[in-house]
Amino acid sequence: MTTNDLSSLHPRLSRFVEDCLSAIDAGAAPAAQVDAIAPLMLDLLAGDRHFLSEANRTPNPDHYARNPIYFADRGVMSLFALVWLPGQWTPVHDHGTWGVVGIVDGILEERSFMTQGHAIISDAGIELHRGGVVLLTDGAVTSFVPNPDHIHETGVPAKRKMAVSLHLYGRELNDYHAYDIERGTRKMINIPQYRS
Ligand SMILES: [Fe+2]
Repeated sequence: MTTNDLSSLHPRLSRFVEDCLSAIDAGAAPAAQVDAIAPLMLDLLAGDRHFLSEANRTPNPDHYARNPIYFADRGVMSLFALVWLPGQWTPVHDHGTWGVVGIVDGILEERSFMTQGHAIISDAGIELHRGGVVLLTDGAVTSFVPNPDHIHETGVPAKRKMAVSLHLYGRELNDYHAYDIERGTRKMINIPQYRS
């Protein structure tokens, strides 16, 4: 369920959201926003992790589940629980905003993509190369800023177990660029609630 009602959240989660909103209200640059919010996410995950509802933790057999938790007024922030069954991945994508990601259960894999120095100025002629891989274990926190694009794919390989992760973005994230590596193109797509 899409919500901006803090009272419907577990007390630890609503406190986390309030603290994030206070950090956002400070109006700092994206890098400073993630500097402020990443430790809040770390503290949230360091305690009892039973703060997600059953709906938040529900997987989908057809694709990874993107379960909304909280949408702030004015679109300044959105928070989702993503549930990854083994073998479920995002497309290669960017975000158009900053974000902070924390792992509740399992291991989330992030594979990065980057240009070799050229700026992406149109939706074609984009030459992306694989960067490194990051394995985020439960309790881990990562973040990104659009500097310029932070392009990656995330998911769980078929040989690993289900993962659950928290994704907080600096806007109401309902669209992003999806990249076609072989064709060197990208396309802005609407993201249904189940994709991130
Ligand atoms: Fe992402």
